[in-house]
Amino acid sequence: MILNERKKNKKEINTPQGQVIIEGPVERDYIAALLIDPNLSNFRNPARQKEALMIVAESPEGMIYIARHGKTIIGYLSFHSPSPYTRWSRHPRILELGAIEVSAPWRRLGIASALLKEAFQNENLEEYIVIVCEFQQHWDLRGTRMNAWNYQRMLTRLYGSVGFKKRRTDDPEILEHPANMLLVRFGSKLNNVYIKAFEELTYQQSLVD
Ligand SMILES: CC(C)(COP(=O)(O)OP(=O)(O)OC[C@H]1O[C@@H](n2cnc3c(N)ncnc32)[C@H](O)[C@@H]1OP(=O)(O)O)[C@@H](O)C(=O)NCCC(=O)NCCS
Repeated sequence: MILNERKKNKKEINTPQGQVIIEGPVERDYIAALLIDPNLSNFRNPARQKEALMIVAESPEGMIYIARHGKTIIGYLSFHSPSPYTRWSRHPRILELGAIEVSAPWRRLGIASALLKEAFQNENLEEYIVIVCEFQQHWDLRGTRMNAWNYQRMLTRLYGSVGFKKRRTDDPEILEHPANMLLVRFGSKLNNVYIKAFEELTYQQSLVD
């Protein structure tokens, strides 16, 4: 299934900082023609972040949604296939929500919530199990002045707004830190066979023992 085949959607939101357009899935060339906010540096420097968005946008199951102020990307949300080095890649219907980031001066204006809301209007996602692997080392604890537990609660609420729920797993990367977490959203059109296969994947270590 080509996920980003769907008609592009666009929504305007008015914030005290100005008008923001929430749109996606956006294509590589569309991203290439835009600027990227210099504060979008949580995961890598902004130039490399823009390149990463372009690469994901043209990958077979990649999708990018952006928040845009004029010609500048001020936030983004990305989906991609799970890394082949993880157990999740063995499942045919898992898609990973890889990252969500909003530029610091634009935070707390509802932009991340709007990106998620817009993305999950994409009916194709109802045929997928979408996972989020949250690792506390990626969180902006300094910028938000939150501790890991409050940050975890904030993210659980944020993703919960579009139907994600925390799930236990013995994935060693998740177990590396007690604040890390796996969140899962089952699409409403998923066949039970896929759900059962997912349940089997969540605990794997006992099979090795
Ligand atoms: C997490 C992040 C994307 C939130 O973006 P945002 O646009 O500020 O989020 P929103 O304004 O839509 O707020 C979403 C919810 O989180 C809460 N929230 C956001 N930042 C908060 C903060 N610093 N303190 C307390 N609550 C906060 C909001 O109050 C809101 O809750 P509500 O819906 O119950 O009111 C942003 O902080 C960010 O880019 N962080 C760095 C990257 C990151 O950690 N990404 C997640 C891991 S991939």
